[in-house]
Amino acid sequence: MRYANLLREVTSVLDAETNITARMATIAAMAHDAFDAFFWTGFYLVDETRSDELVIGPYQGTLGCLRIKFGQGVCGAAASSRKTQIVQDVHDFPGHIACDPRSRSEIVLPVFDKAGGLRAVFDVDSEKLAAFDGDDEAGLRPIVSMVFA
Ligand code: SME
Repeated sequence: MRYANLLREVTSVLDAETNITARMATIAAMAHDAFDAFFWTGFYLVDETRSDELVIGPYQGTLGCLRIKFGQGVCGAAASSRKTQIVQDVHDFPGHIACDPRSRSEIVLPVFDKAGGLRAVFDVDSEKLAAFDGDDEAGLRPIVSMVFA
């Protein structure tokens, strides 16, 4: 239900806004504010000049790593597999990148443009263990799809 409300609010705020940075920044800010368990919320963008690397995009929370290679950590796994990653305990994830040691669990969704190209990943980290499951993926999917809607 909270995701349904968030989707409605994001849709209303983004009405007529076509700038991608503005759309990502709005989604990151509104999602971060909607859930107490969201400790870090934001986008890593596929770098246009180095296509095997992600670079930090709009986010809310503590300082994020600036660059992540495809295949590295949870974000890099989402980018290279093009599949959502849900990690109950980041300490159990091989190659996890600890931008902030307070992060304990996370969900990362790939973000595609209208042509189906991978353009970014959306990363949410929590200080709680096992904060995310399939309901979060189902709730976040239409919200992050708004970036290129
Ligand atoms: N934990 C992420 C890195 C990004 S941040 O924590 C902001 C990962 O392993 O992909």
